[in-house]
Amino acid sequence: MGTGRHPDYVSGVKETAIRASASGKVILLGEHAVVYGRPAIAIPLSGLRATATLIPHLGPFHIQAPAVGINAPLSELPPNHPLARIVYLTTEHIRRPPPDALLRIGSDIPVASGLGSGAAVSAAIVRVLLAWYSVPLDSPTISALVYEVERIYHGTPSGIDNTVIAYEQPIYFVRGRPPEPLPVGTALHLLVADSGIPSQTREVVGDVQRQWEAEPARYERLFDRVAEEVEEARRAIARGDVRALGKRMSANHELLREIGVSAPVLDHLVETARRVGALGAKLSGAGRGGNIVALVEESTASAVEEALQAAGAVRVWRTRIGEPTNHRNSEPSLIP
Ligand code: PMV
Repeated sequence: MGTGRHPDYVSGVKETAIRASASGKVILLGEHAVVYGRPAIAIPLSGLRATATLIPHLGPFHIQAPAVGINAPLSELPPNHPLARIVYLTTEHIRRPPPDALLRIGSDIPVASGLGSGAAVSAAIVRVLLAWYSVPLDSPTISALVYEVERIYHGTPSGIDNTVIAYEQPIYFVRGRPPEPLPVGTALHLLVADSGIPSQTREVVGDVQRQWEAEPARYERLFDRVAEEVEEARRAIARGDVRALGKRMSANHELLREIGVSAPVLDHLVETARRVGALGAKLSGAGRGGNIVALVEESTASAVEEALQAAGAVRVWRTRIGEPTNHRNSEPSLIP
């Protein structure tokens, strides 16, 4: 014990890699206002995932993340590098050393687009390290560890990204409180369309803060109106009223425009989705770039998807909520 080596590896019986994953996410309503204590609703994108694989090897912990050009021993990365930080935070939390292993990171989630790619990579790393040491998984702990790394990316994150990704289920979220599961009365069909324009959450959140400081009363009123839309949307989701939910999402987009975080490309995608039959649409995440989310009926999903592509979306994903979440997706697995 205490060597940090996988027991099977030490005994030489087998050399088994372990893989864990974490989903992306989309904010359905309430972004930005959530930083100021108002509620928000977020859902996992279980089909879009980051993976972390630990492969036993004869040397100190080494990280490979080809998408961001990293191939280095842990000791050569700055301690505050997000990948190094989550390894140190997790191993310190469980009082074990980084194991003699190669950590390989992969992800289908586009970066800087409001889909939670940074939080998903961190969550996958926490999960695979816990699995390596056979420490039971616990969503609040995973969420808290990932939050520490989100602070490097975002400055003052509300905590919604790490929470929805760690719990991997639709949530109603208020900053500083445990998340509440979201009862869903009927299946919801959503399209997430990527504008292809990167969005830097830290900058957009900083701009909103400056505007709030300059005009606090106006911004507080806007955030209160966002909160009303979130509450109405939550009730609409619970009773399966997709038309009411669509209206709330569209109203939330108008408020995000007033808050100053939309962009012509996002407005264009939102208007396109609504024109061709979406029940509602809005930007999702920090804004200025990144993604929009549209609520559709199953019968119109293909038409809206094609229209979004024709309007310039670089990628469109379909997702459905209201089905039991496949939690097995996020459980670590042994790789023969
Ligand atoms: O990471 P993004 O782009 O989904 O933005 C997070 C949502 C914000 O409300 C804008 C910021 C936050 O910390 O909640």
